Amino acid sequence: MTRAFDKIKNNPDRIIIFDTTLRDGEQSPGCSMNLEEKLKMARLLDEMGVDVIEAGFPVASAGDWEAVNEIAKTVKNATVCGLARAKKSDIQASGEAIAPAKSRRIHTFISTSPLHMKFKLQMEPEEVLNAVTESVTFARSFTDDVEWSAEDGSRTEDDFLCRCVEAAINAGATTINIPDTVGYALPEEYFTKIKMLFERVPNIDRAILSTHCHNDLGLAVANSLSGLRAGARQIECTINGIGERAGNAALEEIVMAIRTRPDLIPFRHEIDTTKIMKLSRTLSTITGFSVQPNKAIVGANAFAHASGIHQDGMLKNAQTYEIMTPESVGLTESKLVLAKHSGRAAFKNKLKELGFDLGENAFQDAFDRFKTLADKKREIFEDDLIALVEDEIIRENELIKFVSLQVQAGSKGPQVAELCLTVGEEEKCERVEGNGPVDAIFKAIRAIIPHTDAHLQLYQVHAVTGGTDAQAEVTVRLEEKGKTVNGQGADSDTLVASARAYINALNKLLIKRNSLNPQITP
Ligand code: KIV
Ligand code: ZN
Repeated sequence: MTRAFDKIKNNPDRIIIFDTTLRDGEQSPGCSMNLEEKLKMARLLDEMGVDVIEAGFPVASAGDWEAVNEIAKTVKNATVCGLARAKKSDIQASGEAIAPAKSRRIHTFISTSPLHMKFKLQMEPEEVLNAVTESVTFARSFTDDVEWSAEDGSRTEDDFLCRCVEAAINAGATTINIPDTVGYALPEEYFTKIKMLFERVPNIDRAILSTHCHNDLGLAVANSLSGLRAGARQIECTINGIGERAGNAALEEIVMAIRTRPDLIPFRHEIDTTKIMKLSRTLSTITGFSVQPNKAIVGANAFAHASGIHQDGMLKNAQTYEIMTPESVGLTESKLVLAKHSGRAAFKNKLKELGFDLGENAFQDAFDRFKTLADKKREIFEDDLIALVEDEIIRENELIKFVSLQVQAGSKGPQVAELCLTVGEEEKCERVEGNGPVDAIFKAIRAIIPHTDAHLQLYQVHAVTGGTDAQAEVTVRLEEKGKTVNGQGADSDTLVASARAYINALNKLLIKRNSLNPQITP
């Protein structure tokens, strides 16, 4: 019996939360993550209690394979899943990549809608049906936990969908996923599709039915919840709803809807919802995909009450305008932690409390930066320390390192940046004029390390805490020949943070250039 079946065996209301942030989310433009970033997300997802982590698409590139394999070695509780098309090479790559996981799943898929079969696959329905049986049978030789997906399932004819689902289950699939691949379905329609499968597929009780809804019409969460009401017991979703085009169903919206409305959605999951904000912020820092302020659950305004009437109601009784508490999603005031006179021991203790364990050199650098920050900023909050230490960790293994920056800026001009970097052992400096200070800094980096094929796609600044003395957290996205990397930098000086973020992106680009393989996306 698979772990998922085991979980729902005597709990008909228990649902499986299948997170695909690192696969469907990561494959969307601008969301690519490197190995360390994927591992960090996987650890957080595991701690949060997701049941399945879809860690990637191993056959796509050596980097994808390695990431899935490392996640399989790292994750403690969740089932680790690798995606595969209905091809032996894909399934083999997935099976081998997930092999070290304590609990492992292969997720294999093929299109079943008339449109996809005719134009995308150029296959006859009977050929597709054979491929379903062959792919699931082969996947079962690697693990007893096999998920089969009918790509474009919501636009597939009922008769053919029933035949494919029955064949997949007969071949050994234990989870059957019905994707609304193009985000076209309406909630009632999706409900009817799932219900129809329960009514018509004779062996349906041998598999868990799953939803996988895209958000093109803004209905991904509504459709997923409809699927649950119709009998599905697995929901595929992503943090912040990232994913192809308009994205996937947002994990935080699904789990909070279930928690907030048990009267109408009486299901149980094991997600620690207080970890939601941490995951949401970590993901948006890594990818540079900021969350819109009015986004449900994780947007900056999701718990802000602006109008006088609402504030008055809130003071009298929070339930007047608040259907869930900020604490339930992990939104707490960043705590004041250290001040200028705090010493090494207090600093070390606090880092330990926050879950950081730095080597001696990194610790010394972080402590020096903390002292500099404390000189400039009266109050140091937990979020300041996290930004500072994460910045230190990011930089530990960089080939190109930031050394110093002097900038001349202001309305009279010219705006000039004098920048020094080390490349390996060698220090290199340039003085460059630009159209504004940020332009001057980025040009100086380009003068020291020419990279003419790379283009700046995103430059984004966000304040770590409130106040004008807040540290800046900058994200820079570079694109080179269709590949993108995101760099991060944090500093109390926005221009220094900008230089650090650009240099971080450039370091990642160099690594990517050296490990490139042709990329295949599903
Ligand atoms: O949206 C989709 O159909 C997918 C499949 C690969 C499951 O992501
Ligand atoms: Zn998808």
